[in-house]
Amino acid sequence: MVDLQSQYQKIKDVVNTSIEEVLNSSAYINGPYVKEFQADLENYLNVKHVIPCANGTDALQIAMMGLGLEPGDEVITVDFTFAATVEVIGLLQLTPVLVDVELDTFNINIEALKKAITPKTKAIVPVHLFGQCANMETIIAIAKEHNLFVIEDNAQAIGADYTFSDGTVKKAGTIGHVGTTSFFPSKNLGCYGDGGAIFTNDDELAHTLRGVVNHGMYKRYYHDVVGVNSRLDSIQAAVLKAKLPNLDAYCDARRKAAAFYSNAFKSDKNIVTPVISDFTTHVFHQYTLRITNGKRDALHKHLLDNNIPNAIYYPVPLHAQKAYKDDRYNEKDFEVTNQLINEVISLPMHTELDTEQQGFISQTILNFLN
Ligand SMILES: Cc1ncc(COP(=O)(O)O)c(C=O)c1O
Repeated sequence: MVDLQSQYQKIKDVVNTSIEEVLNSSAYINGPYVKEFQADLENYLNVKHVIPCANGTDALQIAMMGLGLEPGDEVITVDFTFAATVEVIGLLQLTPVLVDVELDTFNINIEALKKAITPKTKAIVPVHLFGQCANMETIIAIAKEHNLFVIEDNAQAIGADYTFSDGTVKKAGTIGHVGTTSFFPSKNLGCYGDGGAIFTNDDELAHTLRGVVNHGMYKRYYHDVVGVNSRLDSIQAAVLKAKLPNLDAYCDARRKAAAFYSNAFKSDKNIVTPVISDFTTHVFHQYTLRITNGKRDALHKHLLDNNIPNAIYYPVPLHAQKAYKDDRYNEKDFEVTNQLINEVISLPMHTELDTEQQGFISQTILNFLN
């Protein structure tokens, strides 16, 4: 699905030199590269505070801890996402409230979101799924009206731009009260291990978050709040600092690959290609099709039989997962997610795809479906 090796070969010199520097300095934790990467990312995202941490799941958890969410508080998020989003809600004994998504963009359905708000609701977690932003302008307006926090799960859309109706443009993850991301190796900005970060423009919240990531310490060995140990290590920061200048080019390469696929599939009546909302750019963390003739599973197998990697993101809705099942949920509220799990298929998507590979992949799909 990804080709991290070929990408590494192109940046090998700078990455190796940076890692060697960390090894020679022995500053493995909180070394200069962590601060430098943090500053570079603040600059890139045009956000006041980036708080690096150990992974994208921790980033979500720390954001919720930093906002002071308490057991019993309801947090609304989507039924169609990676489990990490709901996992941390459960872990903190908050109450997850899952809502359906839109059939075309796979992002949160605004009407379902509005319907899910109760007096106990404290936060909304929109997930910018597969690389494009949810409808943030509307979400922010709803949150203001009901006095709710907005935590953007931006693990999949770092680098995407969101345009407000007044023309203001903001980077994904910097729009809500707080945003989170993952630097898992296959992400658009991935390191060579685990990594994550939290973004905010709120000085007070940033201060709280910096304590929470570090055992609740604001002064060494004085623990003011219950915290966690969640650090981005210096080697990962060195890799990320080396890769960040390429992020826009990486997103462009993904967009180009997506355009090739979409053009190849454009006249096939059994395939729905990705739909991009007009308020967001798409950075194609995943290139995900909908196969509408009931042959998705057969196609999945056929491609694997032909050594073409592909994946079903996601095969089970969160409301139906053993860990998150709840009598509160009603199947009719998840009509779209229940449809998507049977239709979606994600194709190889990375910065090193060439048109020969893509031609072979798309022709194999077209031949099979017709
Ligand atoms: C939407 C979403 N949220 C959160 C995460 C968690 O990130 P990590 O794997 O770095 O913990 C992921 C990672 O795949 C993700 O896709």
